Amino acid sequence: MTTLKKTNSVPKGSNLAIITEKWKNKPNYNLPNDLADYIAKQLTDPEKKFVSADHLGRQVFVILVDPKKEANASHEGLRKNGCTICDSVNAAKGKQITIVNDTLKVSNSRALAEGIALANYQFAHHKPSAKKNLNTLETILVSDTRFKNEQIANLNIIVDATYKARDLVNEPVNVLNAEGLANAFKTMGKQAGFNVEVFNKAKIQQLKMGGLLAVNWGSVDPPTFTVMEYKPQGAKNKKPYVLVGKGVVYDTGGLSLKPTLNSMDLMKCDMAGGAAVGCTMYAIAKAKLKVHVIGLVPATDNRPGFNAFAPGDIITMMDGSTVEMLNSDAEGRMILADALHYAKKYSPELTIDLATLTGAAAAAIGQYGIVAMGNAPEKHKSKLKESGNRVHERLAEFPFWDDYYELMKSDIADMKNIGGPYGGSITAGKFLEKFTNYPYIHLDIAGPAFVTSKDSYRGKGGTGVGVRLLFDFFANK
Ligand code: BES
Ligand code: MN
Ligand code: ZN
Repeated sequence: MTTLKKTNSVPKGSNLAIITEKWKNKPNYNLPNDLADYIAKQLTDPEKKFVSADHLGRQVFVILVDPKKEANASHEGLRKNGCTICDSVNAAKGKQITIVNDTLKVSNSRALAEGIALANYQFAHHKPSAKKNLNTLETILVSDTRFKNEQIANLNIIVDATYKARDLVNEPVNVLNAEGLANAFKTMGKQAGFNVEVFNKAKIQQLKMGGLLAVNWGSVDPPTFTVMEYKPQGAKNKKPYVLVGKGVVYDTGGLSLKPTLNSMDLMKCDMAGGAAVGCTMYAIAKAKLKVHVIGLVPATDNRPGFNAFAPGDIITMMDGSTVEMLNSDAEGRMILADALHYAKKYSPELTIDLATLTGAAAAAIGQYGIVAMGNAPEKHKSKLKESGNRVHERLAEFPFWDDYYELMKSDIADMKNIGGPYGGSITAGKFLEKFTNYPYIHLDIAGPAFVTSKDSYRGKGGTGVGVRLLFDFFANK
């Protein structure tokens, strides 16, 4: 874990990151003259917005921010600077960095601190041989009196929860199966103070969750259905918010097997939506936000073993409707449909699902945002979009027209589980909508959930996408 703390002064010799609009040496920086001169000289180049200087093993960074730049863009720039700083401090085996903010906005301190902390994540426990390369940075000190204790506490929580989500996504299925994922949620519930109930296979059968059970037919490991609830005293909302996360702990495609090259290798990430839901519950409970939220995560692996469901099978879902399953690789919507139906019993104010649902979403916008759609009132959508812009987990809204249902008509069942070759993310979303009766937003995170090369402070591998988005959304309720 990386710890963020407040400080009143720059500890002597500490690595230093100075955020300013215009460079000027100040006594509280405690810089030797030659170092200050070197920085001043570097910044005579008007193109230069970032300087890094080394002085007897101490690193000093100066970041120039443009006060006219739009706030969200400016903060994202600072987060990325944070990654550069984090890498540099670790390369020099530094343990600590102090942030000094000479701009008018405390949010600049926050953004830089967040970038450094998120960049410091490593998934190293399966690689003992890399011990000597472990990050040395432990503490980020923020010297900004405007930064409130509560803000710093919340930032620590957000970083912790994002690390946890990344860990869950990065664990392979032989380490973390559906029961493992449910147990991880139980542990998080104990740590943060929210209620967690895990339905086992017998209970799932009793509830007739036909979609979840069908996807599980080809597996040795049983499915789980986790119900999490955080209901604080004095919650602002009367009706709960419900979060639903796809928990496919591994997606082989089932009998409609994925080709190994490129497509299956990363499919341990197919529970990233579930991880985001569990870790959001963890974060909001730890931060004691005044919102009543329920999290639902149906989980199983999707494999071609045993009586694996065969394309053409007709499945009776929990809501009693039937689905002709023509592609076992469209499994996410089968397990989510039952969870969305289950959510009806809460009469939610709003339900948001997060799922690595379609390759089409990734094909459309890449890793740079979340494909969003839904029938919820504009007020909910715009709030979520604002959060997305603030935390740079941006939403790209797709149409949600009823016409797409035509593509899923089946001759012999209520619906097929696939549409045509076009609009694949939308048909998936519309399929899910059939199982709702409340305001609904669907987030397809197939693009940003997992990255195969380092993407600044989001790292490489599981990104933890969704946690910061939803925390911001609930923190601003
Ligand atoms: N888990 C995949 C989607 C996915 C693709 C996630 C790439 C992350 C990265 C999902 O279960 C899937 O296989 N979807 C199919 C649906 C199709 C068969 C209708 C797809 O997108 O090809
Ligand atoms: Mn699939
Ligand atoms: Zn999948």
